[in-house]
Amino acid sequence: MRIVVLGTGIMGAPMARNLAAAGHDVRVWNRTRAKAEEMGLEVLEAPTAEGADVLITMLSDGDAVESVMDGVALEAGQVWWQSSTVGIAATERLARLAGEAQFADGPVLGTRQPAEQGKLTVLASGPGRDRLGPVFEPVAAKVVDLGDEIGAATKLKLVLNLWIVTLVEGVAESIALAEGLELDPQLFLDIIDGAPMGSPYANLKGTAMIERDFQPSFPLAHAAKDAGLVDEAARAAGLDLPLPAAIRDQMAKAIAAGHGEEDLAGTIWAARSS
Ligand SMILES: NC(=O)c1ccc[n+]([C@@H]2O[C@H](COP(=O)([O-])OP(=O)(O)OC[C@H]3O[C@@H](n4cnc5c(N)ncnc54)[C@H](OP(=O)(O)O)[C@@H]3O)[C@@H](O)[C@H]2O)c1
Repeated sequence: MRIVVLGTGIMGAPMARNLAAAGHDVRVWNRTRAKAEEMGLEVLEAPTAEGADVLITMLSDGDAVESVMDGVALEAGQVWWQSSTVGIAATERLARLAGEAQFADGPVLGTRQPAEQGKLTVLASGPGRDRLGPVFEPVAAKVVDLGDEIGAATKLKLVLNLWIVTLVEGVAESIALAEGLELDPQLFLDIIDGAPMGSPYANLKGTAMIERDFQPSFPLAHAAKDAGLVDEAARAAGLDLPLPAAIRDQMAKAIAAGHGEEDLAGTIWAARSS
């Protein structure tokens, strides 16, 4: 298939590479052109869907996707896979921009390494998803089909990301507490390792926190954005969930201290300044 990928960041670049390696004809565009040029694929001067069967957006948030798609004309017969995490309201706005083209609401789960290995999980809903089998195949280990409703995939993504940010914030605060009480935080990780209340992700992120090694897999700024999107969705559904806003605000403190481009494990900076 002829595919255009808009956004060659942590996720978009390996997705585009895997699509090209599978034999698709892939062109890429990125706001910071140098990042796209590193990839050895044809680089577009400006965002366009001209000549494409499938357009993929993998950008930071809903505003970025909206501003980039503002100048892109889509036609009947084309499919737009919107894979960035943008929340429910922006997904509804973006679907309207698709016009005659078919829209697929398709946020992904998995971070830098699964993206590089072509082992993402795609949550897919909306009318365009049925035509994306050959596009999902090289990038995903698993596709969860959520039916025709645009927004259904985004809703599940928010549920999952609430779990992820809650887990990471919980690990960060447990380690901060251990350090603040002058205990070795490794004792905490060793006890939860393999235990029913533990999780491999908690140990992965906890080790990064103890070592203060925050090379980004999932940037903290995006995690805070996702906590905010969860908060909006919960309020709109009439729910009283205190955690999403509390986590968003805690992460915002670490971002304000200059850690937004680090991994989300860097949320520990909000509790520990060194
Ligand atoms: N990393 C993960 O673990 C992960 C996992 C699942 C889902 N996601 C979601 O996937 C999306 C992309 O994440 P990522 O990790 O690939 O992020 P990233 O590495 O920060 O890449 C973000 C991309 O968006 C572009 N961008 C940002 N603002 C823009 C604007 N105003 N106009 C045009 N382009 C803009 C960036 O361009 P520049 O290069 O010019 O800055 C870059 O191409 C996000 O919605 C994120 O929440 C991430």
